[in-house]
Amino acid sequence: MNFAISCAAGLESILKKEIEIAGYKMLGSWPTLVRFQGELPAIAKMNLRSRVGNKVFLELKQYQTTDFDKLFDMISTIDRAIYIQNNPIIVTAITKQSLLTSVPAIQKIVKKSITKKILNGKEWLVIEDEKLQPIEILVYIEHDMCSVLLNTTWESLHKRGYKKATGEAPINEALAAWLLLLSGWKFSEPLYDFFCGSGTIVIEAALLAKNIAPGMFRSFAFQQFKRYDQKLFTAELEAAKAKMMLTKEHTIIASDIDPTMISIAKENAKHAWMEKYITFETKAIADYISGPELVWTMVSNPPYGLRMNTYDLEKLYYTITELFAHHPKLHWWIITSYDKFTTDDVSWTRKKSMIFNGWERCRFYKKTLLKNNDDTRSEKNTI
Ligand SMILES: C[S@@+](CC[C@H](N)C(=O)[O-])C[C@H]1O[C@@H](n2cnc3c(N)ncnc32)[C@H](O)[C@@H]1O
Repeated sequence: MNFAISCAAGLESILKKEIEIAGYKMLGSWPTLVRFQGELPAIAKMNLRSRVGNKVFLELKQYQTTDFDKLFDMISTIDRAIYIQNNPIIVTAITKQSLLTSVPAIQKIVKKSITKKILNGKEWLVIEDEKLQPIEILVYIEHDMCSVLLNTTWESLHKRGYKKATGEAPINEALAAWLLLLSGWKFSEPLYDFFCGSGTIVIEAALLAKNIAPGMFRSFAFQQFKRYDQKLFTAELEAAKAKMMLTKEHTIIASDIDPTMISIAKENAKHAWMEKYITFETKAIADYISGPELVWTMVSNPPYGLRMNTYDLEKLYYTITELFAHHPKLHWWIITSYDKFTTDDVSWTRKKSMIFNGWERCRFYKKTLLKNNDDTRSEKNTI
């Protein structure tokens, strides 16, 4: 049985690692989609456990197809169509470097074929009203290889369910988890976010350190599939609960200049059961400059301009570099689209490939000392 998990561009390698750690055989990856082999429990397991994935798909069919007639016929040979019976359906499509280029035409043919061949003409089942929680079929075509994929997740996994309120520029939960995994943060050492906003990075950090499956706070599309054995879900949920490490001590510190954001972050942390594991403070970044020496890891998402003018940004990023100069043992990673922050002593290098936080193009920077560079810590991904 084959599966695929979608993710944001650039997150594929960590997603692959998650799938391998869960014990599944990799089949390969396309940009934003990783394929693997597994059995039915994989649906529950990966929906519960993936931190960086967006949607877990069951592959109904994979076939080389270069024309619409073949695409239409292919649908009728889907043997796992049992999962889509009696569900309202929407069809989405992505096509890249293939002879079939028109997304609306692909959607139309696939819908027509599903209605005729699978639903025996019950056209009312094929609808586009998202309010009715339909089942999504994604048709993904790349180099003429067409995969028909059933969305077992419904709303993207980054919507964990614990964020009840946010500020103006919250970071996506999957992206926050990816930053933490990439930073090489050792859970036994302190972690800071001094621009915590609604708390996403520190909540994800606590979930990661305590080995809590991020899908525990929400429901999934597959729970409505009549033919999916719900005992598989219960078993995976119990297995995930058994793996939680709630008694382990961790130091996770979050602050923000805005007291309202601190209240929101605390509330969100409460919904994720993580409030008591995170220390929240209302503090400006400048307050840390002359404070006690900071060591270990900071992962942050400072403001980058949507609400600030250039002068404010220059001042803010100058303060950030000043703080770094006073705390040279701090390993600091930030995600931002602002790219003019350097001083004589400090250069923010190691630009990762472009990452999108919502619609904003960002880079993920790691601070590096130009003079007396003693930053020798290896960057290992930890899952
Ligand atoms: C891009 S938001 C962070 C969003 C956060 N990652 C989330 O998921 O909600 C930047 C945050 O930095 C805070 N901030 C702005 N200037 C600050 C300063 N000088 N010191 C500390 N925090 C500041 C803002 O209040 C805002 O909450």
